[in-house]
Amino acid sequence: MVEDRIHCKALLSKIMSSADAAQLIHDGMVVGMSGFTRAGDAKAVPAALAERAQRESQPLRITLITGASLGHNTDKILTEAGVLARRLPFQVDSTLRRAINDGRVMYVDQHLSETVELLRTNRLGSMDIAIIEAAAITETGGIVPTTSIGNSATFAACAQKVIIEINLAQPASLEGLHDIWLPADRPLREPLPIVRPDQRIGTQSIDVTPGKIAAIVVTHCPDSPSTVEKPDEDTARIAGHLIEFFQHEVSRGRLPRTLPPLQAGIGTIANAVLSGFASSPFDALTIYSEVLQDSAFELMDAGKVAFASGASITLSQDRQRQVFDNLSRYRDKLVLRPQEVSNHPEVIRRLGLIAINTALEADIYGNVNSTHAGGTHMMNGIGGSGDFARNAAYAIFATKSMAKNGAISSIVPMVPHCDHNEHDVDVIVTEMGLADLTGLAPRERALQIIEHCAHPSYRDLLRDYYRDALRFGGHTPHDLATAFGLHMRFAETGTMRL
Ligand code: COA
Repeated sequence: MVEDRIHCKALLSKIMSSADAAQLIHDGMVVGMSGFTRAGDAKAVPAALAERAQRESQPLRITLITGASLGHNTDKILTEAGVLARRLPFQVDSTLRRAINDGRVMYVDQHLSETVELLRTNRLGSMDIAIIEAAAITETGGIVPTTSIGNSATFAACAQKVIIEINLAQPASLEGLHDIWLPADRPLREPLPIVRPDQRIGTQSIDVTPGKIAAIVVTHCPDSPSTVEKPDEDTARIAGHLIEFFQHEVSRGRLPRTLPPLQAGIGTIANAVLSGFASSPFDALTIYSEVLQDSAFELMDAGKVAFASGASITLSQDRQRQVFDNLSRYRDKLVLRPQEVSNHPEVIRRLGLIAINTALEADIYGNVNSTHAGGTHMMNGIGGSGDFARNAAYAIFATKSMAKNGAISSIVPMVPHCDHNEHDVDVIVTEMGLADLTGLAPRERALQIIEHCAHPSYRDLLRDYYRDALRFGGHTPHDLATAFGLHMRFAETGTMRL
């Protein structure tokens, strides 16, 4: 019953249909929506907005800002309806990806901790409307978020109006899982007071001025399940190399036996690599991450992880059922935070995280491309990988050594787009092996990466490139005329192989 979820009875009068709520959105508006890696996204109003745009002849184009990616094909249907003029800070949808790469949607690929800093200081224009999914509304009108917090708390503070989607399919028992804390405006900002992953520093709901709440829409729709693939032989090998590396670091006294808090990025590889810790010798692990995927819950169930802090919970269908039916089991092991807290450079540096993110490709010196296929075509976006990699104690990038059935080598002479430069990258790992780049100069890095990470069938090509590049000298030797030779060959012939 919706009345059981809206404890501020004065707000019951704001309930309306999604179509009526969508009428509040006008051409040219800046709209914020809850949603982070398919979790806790606004579901009904965006669909109604797309329907309206298809029906009406006048232009209806908006700037859409979210926490991260959305579920329910929302980016797809908004793209098809021509609603998206500008989109930030992250997406994973193939239809939107095409529109971005065709130049039809202006996409701002942004560090996930930074978006609301820009919003707060009006550098992205002012936000007209925020649409936020909630499990409940408190007696004082506070919004209890669902499976993600993302940027919702700042959207609620910055937007002129707020539309709340009360989702009855999201368990009411989510209440209490969230820890809402926002930094003060500069220059009066104090240090962010998190010194342990399990600390709570804020409130359980998002404060919003009641007068701003323009509409409440009732929905009954679970989150879209995650689409990550199951671990395979290669990802198990990557996990094995990492576990061996951490054991080595522990034996040298560089890491504690419980390891520092772990962060793992989105997608199949990061999820599978984290799963691999279930058969590691490490116990009492903690997670201080952004997205909590299936692997985080597997590790809690296996008794390996004592506590997990994230900004969203994104699960496969089976895991969703198991976790949400048994939330009490995880309650004291879990907290969700705003993404500017989960991804805050200050906390990441203080906690000394091990950050494991995924590369599309890395070059022989350790520069990483995580976003642009072939250097030009947007895949998803940088997400939080930069927030974590730059500030973590161990910035690790994992990738399979080849993509597209071996037509692409993930180790290349020079990345044609650089998201994480060699100054931020400590370890590259593929199923072939691990290169620890700590304290190595570029010429030393090249040897480690080629010999340990590249697929054997590409090693000679890379060795030849490096040997030829040495003729040109320099701290980071390159032959600029052929540095993108593998990429050019792939573009021309469909394979990087000779
Ligand atoms: N060039 C072109 N395409 C490549 C490639 C390369 N060098 N390497 C991989 N790909 C393709 C794969 O073939 C696959 O394509 P498909 O979807 O058509 O099968 C796709 O990229 C995804 O690769 P996959 O191996 O399945 O990895 P993934 O699901 O783990 O995703 C990233 C990898 C890099 C795309 C993903 O992790 C990402 O978007 N990262 C950036 C954001 C991020 O790291 N956020 C983390 C902070 S929480």
